[in-house]
Amino acid sequence: MIARLDYLKSLGVDAIWLSPFYKSPNKDGGYDVADPRDVDPKFGNLLDAKCLIEEAHRRELRVIFDIVPNHFSTEHLWFKEALASPKGSVARSRFHFYDGRGESGEIPPNNWNSIFGGPAWTRLTEVDGSKGQWYLHLFDSTQADLNWDNLDVRDDFEKTLRFWLDLGVDGFRIDVAHGLAKETILQDHPDPEGLTRALRLDVSDMRQEDRERLLSDVPFFDREGVHEIYRSWRKIFDSYSGGRISVAEAWVHPSSRAARYVRSDELHQIFNFDFLIAPWDAEFLVAAIKRTLSEVGSVDAPPTWVLSNHDSPRLVTRLGGGDLGERKARAFALLTHALPGGIYIFQGEELALVDGALPDSARQDPVFFRTNGKDKGRDGARIPLPWESAVNFGFSTGTPWLPIPKDWEDKTVAQQSINESSSLALYKKSLEIRSLHPALKKSSNYNIEWINAPKGVIGIKRAPGFLLIANTNVEEISVEIGEGAELLLASNSEVVVKVGRAVVAGHTTCWLNLPK
Ligand code: NOJ
Repeated sequence: MIARLDYLKSLGVDAIWLSPFYKSPNKDGGYDVADPRDVDPKFGNLLDAKCLIEEAHRRELRVIFDIVPNHFSTEHLWFKEALASPKGSVARSRFHFYDGRGESGEIPPNNWNSIFGGPAWTRLTEVDGSKGQWYLHLFDSTQADLNWDNLDVRDDFEKTLRFWLDLGVDGFRIDVAHGLAKETILQDHPDPEGLTRALRLDVSDMRQEDRERLLSDVPFFDREGVHEIYRSWRKIFDSYSGGRISVAEAWVHPSSRAARYVRSDELHQIFNFDFLIAPWDAEFLVAAIKRTLSEVGSVDAPPTWVLSNHDSPRLVTRLGGGDLGERKARAFALLTHALPGGIYIFQGEELALVDGALPDSARQDPVFFRTNGKDKGRDGARIPLPWESAVNFGFSTGTPWLPIPKDWEDKTVAQQSINESSSLALYKKSLEIRSLHPALKKSSNYNIEWINAPKGVIGIKRAPGFLLIANTNVEEISVEIGEGAELLLASNSEVVVKVGRAVVAGHTTCWLNLPK
């Protein structure tokens, strides 16, 4: 990773977020943490982590670690201790252990499902071999949910935050930030199957109002109790110099509840996942942008934009794949890169990678296993980055955790670096302009001005002197842009600027400089 920092610098990002690298049996890509204050030997050691931070800082890159407070791996010492301790013990109270229902406790304490499929409870075999209590796991059965009413849990996480802050990390991405406080654990949910479907990203099989209704009251997500935790964490972040930050992974409904996580005494940012599920459609996107700006704007927090991440299909794939998918993805990226606030780019998004085909035998994602293969899971989007034409595309001389498709030869960083019209070249240009243009560069000015645009077209002005036109239609459009506007960047070469007008091809975004 240290050897690739120069690449990230040249890409033009300001910071890197690393997914969890802590000691872990890796049942869920490291989100099953067995020791949150140590590095898994697969990746290196603590000195390497420190060195990574220092080398990043030397290049003026900031570093964000991923903290996982909702659950611990069942390999964590605490869980082992809980197993060896009797029911009702302090060791068990750090997790959610309950007796089962039914004559011999054979029915789980409630009817919740795991987000990854199957029940959210697993029954223990006690040390004497008898069937025992059940423990809660909203995700895989190897990820036991922590009980945030327990003071050991709170203290331990504060210790973890300080541990990495002392090492020099610039901030944290907080996994399942909306999940820490649970309510009504001993009550059944009226519609557990509906809730499970509603919580999935692929929502095509459900009416939007049913989904919103189910998601607006989830007994284990977005409960009031989480905010007090973040207020105490904020005090810790603020006690360190250098502007340490936090970003919440919190899926909340209605979306206006996002603002509650980024009040001035809580977290700094919350991922806005609207674009992650958005179609390439002007009307939808304009509404999403307006809603986001006004919601987090209400508490003066910066908006964020996410086109892809490790939990969702890659952008090009989601937009239909092939040349058309890539064309739309490029246009979508230019729209996103012109918006105020923070943009999060998933590794390989800049290369326009697609989900890789994988044999089932190669799959790792617990979602695949817990749904008996019905849901293929997220592995397709998690294939390592192809760097160059070499063994394993230069990613590793060892065996990568997922095989890299052979036909990614023309997608490598090396190939795209020498191709002016590559996706990588487009990302580099847009990020450079974003960092230099007076209307786009870092500022607390989150204002944008909407200009009248034909159907299917988005027109945004940002002061001083920046105009964006995004055409989500198939057909080209011609828009009046005033005298003296100049083309800065376009998502493909089919944009023509004439005196006073821009002719923008279908599925294309362009950036223009307006005269003073
Ligand atoms: C969200 C993470 O992004 C995902 O990868 C993980 O599986 C779950 N949280 C559980 O930790």
